[in-house]
This record gives sequence, C-alpha cells and structure tokens, in this order.
Amino acid sequence: MNEKDPLTTLLDDAARRGIAYRQSCGDRAVAPSETAVAAVQRLVEPFSEEGRPDEEVLALLDEIGSPATMAMAGPRFFGFVIGGSLPVTVATNWLSTAWDQNVVMHEVTPATATVEKVAIDWMVDLFGFPAGTGAGFVTGATVANFTALAAARHRVFEDAGWNVEADGLIGAPPVTLIVSNEAHPTLFKSLGMLGLGRERVVRVPTDGQGRMISSELPDIDGPTIVCTQAGNINTGAFDPIADICAAAKPHGAWVHVDGAFGLWAEASAAHRSLTAGMQQADSWATDAHKWLNVPYDGGIAFVRNASDLAASMAITADYLLTDTEHRNPSDYTPELSRRGRGVDVWAALLSLGRKGVEELVDRCCRHARRFAEGFSEAGFEVLNDVVLNQVLVDFGNDADTRRVIDAIQAEGTCWCGVTVWQGRTAMRISVSNWATTNEDVEKSLSAMIAVARRLV
Ligand SMILES: Cc1ncc(COP(=O)(O)O)c(C=O)c1O
Repeated sequence: MNEKDPLTTLLDDAARRGIAYRQSCGDRAVAPSETAVAAVQRLVEPFSEEGRPDEEVLALLDEIGSPATMAMAGPRFFGFVIGGSLPVTVATNWLSTAWDQNVVMHEVTPATATVEKVAIDWMVDLFGFPAGTGAGFVTGATVANFTALAAARHRVFEDAGWNVEADGLIGAPPVTLIVSNEAHPTLFKSLGMLGLGRERVVRVPTDGQGRMISSELPDIDGPTIVCTQAGNINTGAFDPIADICAAAKPHGAWVHVDGAFGLWAEASAAHRSLTAGMQQADSWATDAHKWLNVPYDGGIAFVRNASDLAASMAITADYLLTDTEHRNPSDYTPELSRRGRGVDVWAALLSLGRKGVEELVDRCCRHARRFAEGFSEAGFEVLNDVVLNQVLVDFGNDADTRRVIDAIQAEGTCWCGVTVWQGRTAMRISVSNWATTNEDVEKSLSAMIAVARRLV
C-alpha cells in the first residue's frame, strides 16, 4: 500500500479541489445561486474549543465556500476591471505560499527579493519609465496611490523646507492638490489617509469621456501635487497627461498618474497613444491583479526617484539605501512583513513576454469593441467612446437599465455591474480577463440582448 504522508495528502487535496474549481468556472452560472449563498451561514459557528482535522477544514471550505463564490476567475465575469489570474500565476502563488517567505530584507529572502527586483526592472522597461525609478509591491492600486503620493508628499514638503516624515502636517506649509473631477474614489481615500485631505483639493472639470480638461488647470504656484488618471473606471478614457505635465512641471509641481489598469495600454502599439507623455510624470500607481491577471493582492507603486519613495517608506534613515548592492523590499512599501506578491508578477511577465502582454491587452480591447458593436447593432446606446476595455450600455432609462442588469446577473451567462455615468444609469462591461474568448463574448452578447429585448 502506498500511504501518503499527511502533508502530501492535504496539499494534493487542495490542488485537486482548486483545479476542479477553476475548471468549473467557465460552465457554471457566473453568480452563485441563492441556495449556495444561504448555505454559507453554516460556516457561522461558535469558535471551536478542540479544533478540527485539517482535511475537514479544507473540505468544509470547498464544499460550502466554492459554490458561494462569484466566478470572477471565469471568462464571462465583466463586473469590475479585474483579471482572472493566469494559471502560471496561480501555480507560482501556491509555491511561494509554501515557501512562506517574509519579504523584508534581501539578505533573509534572497529568492523572492531578487525575483521581485527583476519584475520591477521588467515593468520599468515595459512602461518606459526612467532609470532610477523605484517601486514597491503593495496590495492594490489604492495602496499604490497612497504609497506613491507619500513619496510626492515627501518631496514637495522637503522642497518647501519641511520634514513631513519627522514633523507631520501640523504647522506645515500649505500644499495645493489638484485632481480630476473624475478621479477614482480611492484616490481621495489615499489623500485622506496621508493627512492631505479628501476635500482639500482643487477639482479640474472633465469632458464627456471623463478626461481632465487641461486648459482648466488652475495656475500653479508653490508646492503642488497634480493627480492624473490613465484609464477612467467607467469609460477607460485617459487624461491628457502630456499636456498636464507641460503645464505643471515647469512650475515644480509633482505629477502623479493613477493607472490602475490603464498603464498597461503602454504595452500595446495600438493603444500606446493613450498613455502619451506619462513617462514625464513623477509617480505612477497600477495593479497587476487587474490586467496582468495575477492573483490578489498585487498593486505596484512607481516613483521616478527611488530615494523619494524610500524617504517616505523606509523605517529608519540609518540604513536607508546603505545596502547599495541589494534592494531591501521593505524600504519601498508601507508594510514591513508581507508575502512575496511580486513573484506572481514575475511569473506572468516571464510567461507572457512583451508580446504576450501586448496581445492580452489588444485582445481585451477587441472584445470590448465587439460588445459595443453588438449592442449598437441591437439598438441599444453605448455611452462612451470605446478606446480601451470599458463599455457603458444604456437600456433606455434608469429604471429599465437597472431592471435589465438585475435580470442579466440572474440569468447567469455573464455578470456585469451597474454604474452612473454623468447622470445616466448604465451597465458597465469591463474586459480584462485572459480567459475570455470570442465565443464567450458572442455567448454573453446573445444572452444579454435576449434579456434586454424581453424586458424593454
Ligand atoms: C483608476 C483606479 N484607481 C484605483 C483603483 C483601486 O484599485 P484597487 O481596488 O486594486 O485598490 C481602481 C479600481 O478599479 C481604479 O480603476
């Protein structure tokens, strides 16, 4: 008899269950059934005194948890701008979880620190950022914005003669924050967390696609941070970053780019014009768990001068950048202890290569254009210029649009969410999953149009 040891039995079982789950994602209804969601309550129980065997814990999670998940990893979830984790990244994520490395300092975790550094170098190259750009792997674009803006805060205050890390904001000289009227809500949250204030901002008006109108930028005088956006969460539109840099940088302003998903347009020759000028900015935030399709939680903050990032993130100035031979990951992130989330980014980039990333971006954009074309042909209004991977569809009026979206979600072929775009309720389709095929798009279009025709 070939008895497996308990570790092998448990981890084999986890792999078997994980594989079965992933294989089911394309066939099942995208949203979980009401019965499955109700069953999750069975997990709500008093804290156990004695504990339970490991294999029972895993089985319980799979048998009750898996059916109650939304099939976000599947090819027909278009609800948020998120990916579906490339298989290689799930595999490397499992392996690096088994490593259980604490990615603090190079010396204690050389494999993860090196792999993350390589991934950063590749992204700096892919995005065309200048040599000397520093970066940190954080949990998502919210924290990437926070981290990059902490570096911005450091620089503008230091230039104004104030050590904000040491002395805080009480009594600090005033700083002007300029943001788009259409900035993502998490950008305001980041500003709040940094003590810069969610509301203490100058808002710049936007056009019909959500792009900042650069001629409406206020005059810049004194310490200033300008926050731009590459990829509007509704329309996919980009702020005119080159124009904004041209207006702001000669006055010494720091320009930040929130490119949670839009930064990846830089990888595509067909879409690169959208990001024009972004390399002139001082900092950038993006997500890898969106368009690069790595598992959560993968965001990255980039800062033109690595020393500005380190000055705001490293724990002490004593060892700040003194280890010149090696990069210590924790000098560039808010966290000290964390998992090696950059390993998944490395795996995705190594597996796809430059051409693969371009193809992924182009494919998703092609799917988005096909959605727009299909809805227009069927007589429904598409509210945005489909320049990237986002499509907004209006089914007549606000109430009808909401009814159609609810019915589409319940029908189960695909899943799209609701948004309000410049006062109009719309269905938002975001295509950023590597697994979505032409067939998935056609199947989803047919199902959604059938539902809409039945209701309006
Ligand atoms: C432009 C933009 N910024 C920030 C975020 C926040 O990203 P995360 O949820 O990864 O923190 C998003 C999420 O969709 C986004 O689209």
